[in-house]
Amino acid sequence: MYLTKEEEKILDGEKGEMLGRLLNLLVSLGEIYGAERLIDISSAQISGVSYKTIGDIGLEFVEDIAKENIKVKVPSTLNPAGMDLDNWKMLGIDEEFANKQLKIIKAFQSLGVEISCSCVPYLIGNLPTFNSHIAWAESSAVIFANSILGAKTNREGGPAALASAILGKTPYYGYHLDENRKANYIIKLDLEKDRDESFYGALGYVVGKIVKNKVPYFENLYKFKPNLNDLKSLGAAMAASGGIALYHAKNLTAECKVKDVVEDAEKIEIGKEEIKEAYDKLSSIDIDDLDLICVGCPHCSLGEIKKIANLLKDKKIETELWVCTSIHIKAIADRMGYTKIIEKAGGKVVKDTCMVVSPIEDLGYKKVATNSGKAAVYLPSFCKSEVYYGDLKDLL
Ligand code: F3S
Repeated sequence: MYLTKEEEKILDGEKGEMLGRLLNLLVSLGEIYGAERLIDISSAQISGVSYKTIGDIGLEFVEDIAKENIKVKVPSTLNPAGMDLDNWKMLGIDEEFANKQLKIIKAFQSLGVEISCSCVPYLIGNLPTFNSHIAWAESSAVIFANSILGAKTNREGGPAALASAILGKTPYYGYHLDENRKANYIIKLDLEKDRDESFYGALGYVVGKIVKNKVPYFENLYKFKPNLNDLKSLGAAMAASGGIALYHAKNLTAECKVKDVVEDAEKIEIGKEEIKEAYDKLSSIDIDDLDLICVGCPHCSLGEIKKIANLLKDKKIETELWVCTSIHIKAIADRMGYTKIIEKAGGKVVKDTCMVVSPIEDLGYKKVATNSGKAAVYLPSFCKSEVYYGDLKDLL
């Protein structure tokens, strides 16, 4: 891999052992994937934040870096933690978990990372421009940035995203190169949409299973007029059931006119049957047998919270409800009175975390309902939950 003189110096440890180790991580990644060189990035989104997912080893890793008194070089935002950083007692999180989680947060903060604790950085100020190179972890944010915004990132792991944030560089391979951004599959939808927002998670689940880690092109998705929330759900589900990091959709996504499909692209038709099968696979329990209703995967936008508040106005719910979002969006929801309506109905607006990365299994929640295709994929393995999958209005 070609390195500039400055990069060679960093790699040799001339700017400190830690910077050398972090650059070595990026160079090793680049060598594995055949990158010719490193490129500058304009932002980072760092995952590996919840104590539940990174444990003591992860805590030590971040604290070791933070001890060196180094700072991130580019605007860097953080993925959800394992709890609401202020209201963890309200969620029933135990003190030992909370203390470890707060140490992780403190370490990231001392590195200069924004303690945003959200998987929707693009809704809260980390909004990359078209064609910009970024290093983002968090698969749902990666697919949104690549597809909807036309920024360029690979699906980074937490440590690589952190190294990139500190060095301001990433190896130049994969989705940073135009030739890898062409579609390999052409998807035609031969069906009518007879569900609300959960349709997009189910569709994403189906496409992810077929396409795996390649690039699909949706020929006629636009006929359903999906809004940004719908595309956020679709992308998250495709990234979870497969490993999709980029898709194109006629009349909808950033590069749908710029990029082409490969010559031998495979044509796939998806009908009513495949979507019905997805609903069957994503649900393992009945809707009337629940411990917890969880929405906000990826984190809710203000519009989604407004919709929940409208559904719950002057009503009471008996099942525990978590509406997961960022501190930024909750602040506006508080101001608009949506949080009050949801709380009055018996629900909680939970910030900084989500149903997958918080320890809900230790809080006693075993039967969980969600309207998120991504959460429905991950809940059984990450949280040992049984899942009901459906539309918000049915869940509530
Ligand atoms: Fe975000 Fe958690 Fe879902 S990090 S995308 S809400 S699994």
